[in-house]
Amino acid sequence: MAQFRLPKNSQIRQGKTYKADGAKNVKVFKIYRWNPDSGETPSVDTYEVDLDHCGPMVLDALIKIKNEVDPTLTFRRSCREGICGSCAMNIDGGNTLACLKPIEDVNGEVKIYPLPHMQVVKDLVPDMSNFYAQYASIKPWLRSQSPAPARERLQSPEEREQLDGLYECILCACCSTSCPSYWWNSDRYLGPAILLQAYRWLADSRDEDTGDRLDTLEDPFRLYRCHTIMNCAKTCPKGLNPAKAIAEIKKMMVARR
Ligand code: SF4
Ligand code: SF4
Ligand code: FES
Repeated sequence: MAQFRLPKNSQIRQGKTYKADGAKNVKVFKIYRWNPDSGETPSVDTYEVDLDHCGPMVLDALIKIKNEVDPTLTFRRSCREGICGSCAMNIDGGNTLACLKPIEDVNGEVKIYPLPHMQVVKDLVPDMSNFYAQYASIKPWLRSQSPAPARERLQSPEEREQLDGLYECILCACCSTSCPSYWWNSDRYLGPAILLQAYRWLADSRDEDTGDRLDTLEDPFRLYRCHTIMNCAKTCPKGLNPAKAIAEIKKMMVARR
């Protein structure tokens, strides 16, 4: 039987342990650490957190650790209320937003890793360059050749309704980084988040570039690597369904043939 061994520099070491001395209500956090400047392999550090003096969400614990225990711990966050998408990470085996994940929802130790299958910049910070370049490639803005009206471009309530379930996407990348097709083909497959965004503009009654948008997506890799595995819909912290949006694009492709 074939045996595979990770290269030495990608094997994860057991890291440091930080105790919460005197705390009565302790939760243990195991957090992936990697500093490209250190020359060391990644590690998993252990932090005991006193829940009697911590907010309810996983992000509260991360901020407490950074402020009070270990200022070198690196992660992204901004809004703290599920709007900016920057605190996306893998918590307890699933991709989600740290600011929306209650600590009490995790049984036992809270294991935290960066979003899977992304290059890591440092600790819990993934490199989003490819993801954002793919987003730019779908030209995510209203494209219209009609002369601009004196005021706004109007929609009927029914036309506006077509954007529900799409406009709420915060581009956190939880879905794309849970998609096996995206893991293996992220250089060519756009992945669920970007395809949901592509459909957001295809579904917009004010957009007039449908043909060009579909031409851009008509490609064995960009669109058709979705195999309806549905990890994307399962993991989306905003309750959206990228797989459904992808199916709608495929239907549009068939309809125009
Ligand atoms: S569809 Fe959901 S999981 Fe995917 S990027 Fe948008 S908000 Fe995040
Ligand atoms: S449904 Fe498509 S996009 Fe969603 S996880 Fe599966 S393969 Fe990926
Ligand atoms: S900090 Fe903005 S979504 Fe979590």
